[in-house]
Amino acid sequence: MSIPIVRTVAELRKAVAEWRKQDLKVAVVPTMGALHEGHLSLVRAALDRADRVIVTLFVNPKQFNSAADLAAYPRTEHEDAAKLAPLGAHMLYAPFASEMYPEGFATTVSVAGVSEGLCGAYRPGHFDGVATVVAKLFLQTGADLAFFGEKDFQQLHVVRRIARDLDIPIEIVACPTVREEDSLAMSSRNVRLSASERQVAPRLAAILSMRPSASPGARRST
Ligand code: PAF
Repeated sequence: MSIPIVRTVAELRKAVAEWRKQDLKVAVVPTMGALHEGHLSLVRAALDRADRVIVTLFVNPKQFNSAADLAAYPRTEHEDAAKLAPLGAHMLYAPFASEMYPEGFATTVSVAGVSEGLCGAYRPGHFDGVATVVAKLFLQTGADLAFFGEKDFQQLHVVRRIARDLDIPIEIVACPTVREEDSLAMSSRNVRLSASERQVAPRLAAILSMRPSASPGARRST
């Protein structure tokens, strides 16, 4: 069992046009690969709602803040394709970098407001990179539905705003975060945690969901 791998916009559009002739509903699941159960849950959700599911795999250089981080990002296309085939995904779109950003590429999609603060405050330009590549993936695939994890909550809001502001007719479907047994949110970057960081990381979810306790002096007056 294997999944067709498509590298160019022309091939992608040809396949989608065939599906459109048959009146099939098309979904896209954008990823940067190194697929884990979180990604696979998005693919399953997409298969439940659409007739054809395109998983995209592109390690987008524009959303990385440092060359070292980009170089260290895990690249496991062979294993990714092997995980997708048994699920029944219909296409892996893994474009060449030159296909996404040809010589002279000069456009940036930038979403004001929602891209600022939180993660955006620590990763300058990150959400411009995400917005640019996601807008391209929406327009290249022409999909009816796109699936994103709630784990990347700020990204989800950025992506919703792109579709709305640019009148791209695509429904953004948010899916719940998938966690390891010790409650750490699954992420392709988890493999880069040291043993001690890996031990501490699951506490993050617990700390974030803690309610501030009332200070001893703050009694409710009757
Ligand atoms: O969440 C990701 O993996 C990436 O930010 C995305 C949406 C695939 C864009 O490169």
